[in-house]
Amino acid sequence: MAELTPFIRLESVSKRFPNGDRRGTFTAVDDVSLDIRAGERFGIIGSSGAGKSSLLRLINLLEKPDAGSVHVGGKDLTRLSREELRTARSGIGMIFQQFNLLQNATVHDNVAFPLTLRRPRLSRSRIDARVEECLAEVGLTDKLASYPARLSGGQKQRVAIARALATRPAVMLCDEPTSALDSETTRSVLAILADINRRLGVTLVVVTHELAVARTLCERVAVMAGGRIVEDIALDHSGDRLDTAIARANRREVPVTAAVRPVPFAVRAAAAPTGPAQRRRVGGLPLPRKTAHV
Ligand SMILES: Nc1ncnc2c1ncn2[C@@H]1O[C@H](COP(=O)(O)OP(=O)(O)OP(=O)(O)O)[C@@H](O)[C@H]1O
Ligand SMILES: [Mg+2]
Repeated sequence: MAELTPFIRLESVSKRFPNGDRRGTFTAVDDVSLDIRAGERFGIIGSSGAGKSSLLRLINLLEKPDAGSVHVGGKDLTRLSREELRTARSGIGMIFQQFNLLQNATVHDNVAFPLTLRRPRLSRSRIDARVEECLAEVGLTDKLASYPARLSGGQKQRVAIARALATRPAVMLCDEPTSALDSETTRSVLAILADINRRLGVTLVVVTHELAVARTLCERVAVMAGGRIVEDIALDHSGDRLDTAIARANRREVPVTAAVRPVPFAVRAAAAPTGPAQRRRVGGLPLPRKTAHV
């Protein structure tokens, strides 16, 4: 099967941060290249400090790369003007472990926020209609007037998903989307994300430390260690390959500094086969439906 043009392409991206003692820099993302197809459900896993969140934040340029380029939807984001980048970012939604909702705003106003920010000419009635549509996607239209403090963790994350959907993104970046949730709520949030991927064709990039989340949601997973992608694997349903890939990554892990030691994954499989990283592509997913902007 012919390979489809990737929707997200990172080319040799690196991100360095200043060291705590202000002497020198620390490389959080080290020369990473990565292709993600349109409509793919892609996971990034690895131990704490491996560089997962930094890599995710490079995709929408929340972190600016020190080297390399970031292409999304055929545009090199590193070469856009500030205004062009703002427009490109409205096609990339993001959700976080701690939901990041505005506490003093209602559910309606939280979901409306990116629209008022990025589509300032939209009428009030069109904003209201879009907010209702997005809340319907996550099954929360009855909470329109509630404040976040009155919502459960799962409901808060559903509001965050609705907010990320408001500008009709082609990509949703998810940083530990279920890590603050119990297992039942995790299942319902994963079902919503899978549904958004299937019905709306939104490409998902999901950082998680929960192997079960990667197994349930993702078709392909990159394993990170020490700022690099050390494995890029297509998942089968047994998930065994994921366990062994993590075991390999843990063995390869190099402590970055004495102060910030990566915390290895707890893995079920102690034994792991040797051999090169297995690179597989998943084919046959539909391209995203063309969506008209509001
Ligand atoms: N803004 C920053 N300034 C300095 N160092 C940073 C910054 N952001 C990340 N780092 C460092 O870069 C490394 C990678 O961080 P990152 O948050 O990407 O890891 P992670 O894999 O997401 O970890 P976790 O699973 O704990 O969230 C860490 O050592 C971290 O301390
Ligand atoms: Mg992180």
